[in-house]
Amino acid sequence: MPANKNLLLLPGDGIGPEVMYEVQRIIDWMDRKRQVTFDLTEDLVGGACIDARGVSITPATVARAKLADAVLFGSVGGPQWDKLGFDSRPEISILTLRRELGLFANLRPAIVLDPLVDASTLKAEVVRGLDIMIVRESTGGIYFGEPRGVTSLPDGRRRGVNTEVYDTDEIERVARVAFDLARKRQGRVCSVEKANVMESGLLWRETVAALHMREYSDVALSNMYADNCAMQLVRNPRQFDVIVTTNLFGDLLSDLASMLTGSLGMLPSATLGAPDASGRRHALYEPIHGSAPDIAGKGIANPLGQLLSFAMLLRYSFDMDEDAGMIERACTNVLASGLRTADVMAPGCAKVGTHVMGEAVLRELDKLNA
Ligand code: IPM
Ligand code: MG
Repeated sequence: MPANKNLLLLPGDGIGPEVMYEVQRIIDWMDRKRQVTFDLTEDLVGGACIDARGVSITPATVARAKLADAVLFGSVGGPQWDKLGFDSRPEISILTLRRELGLFANLRPAIVLDPLVDASTLKAEVVRGLDIMIVRESTGGIYFGEPRGVTSLPDGRRRGVNTEVYDTDEIERVARVAFDLARKRQGRVCSVEKANVMESGLLWRETVAALHMREYSDVALSNMYADNCAMQLVRNPRQFDVIVTTNLFGDLLSDLASMLTGSLGMLPSATLGAPDASGRRHALYEPIHGSAPDIAGKGIANPLGQLLSFAMLLRYSFDMDEDAGMIERACTNVLASGLRTADVMAPGCAKVGTHVMGEAVLRELDKLNA
């Protein structure tokens, strides 16, 4: 009998707990209908953890995350914690998890589902069928580089410093993830940096090119400066298949790409560590949307980003492609049937809240599983 799958659920703040609840109903459904049992542990992160324990994540929670087969994260932050010192913000919890678990490859798909093609602010003919995967490096670069900090200068001015640093092994391992993904997709990788102004960008470009030549010459590799990439994403987004880039550029470009879809509330993400000898890797899954404090507690948040993050978890952490595909299809079918949460509402559709949307996905799963 195979061991149960251990999941750590970290709902966090704002709409996080509301959308996580809909995932738990899917997990119950899988237990009853698909005979897949998960051992669930739930814990506090972000502002909720600051209120209860004084820090945004405790070492015990980090330890639990390391033991889990996968972590499903909600979202953190909110105005009531904005006044806290820089090192005490709710956001520290996600950065801590990325660093402590070595989650260096952040996979951020931007997909336009057919029923939502008109939700984009771009013309439908520009985004129809869009399917981009941004692979963002997520444990290095300027987010973690030293030196950093704010110092006082002798003449009374102050200086803020952050440092972009990349070593060749950090570049190679994330590029490898991008090339491997491209092999299962359209076979194209675009590597993005600012090699025209940053030495670290030049090293990035050279390292990716060398790896490509050594091991991945079957994949088509192109390079782009980050500013041009931002422009090209808006001009003609379908030219891209897989984009691989640094932590900071990936942060910016993935927000941009997610808005091409017009439905931030729908997009999942995965952040993966390096596989060990047995193939097991740390992994964390979270929707791209934030904690959305303005709509928290109203029952109107779109749960599909969190549900699709769970589908990604099934696919990447447990190789459960069939179950993942079923959840993805159920979400698409529900949208095609005309149900919409407020964020993706369109003329002629029926506006529903979080729970009705979750319920509709469950009913659709029942049909697909029949
Ligand atoms: C993201 C977020 C985080 C980041 C914040 C919350 C620290 O914007 O996951 O994209 O900048 O990485
Ligand atoms: Mg971001």
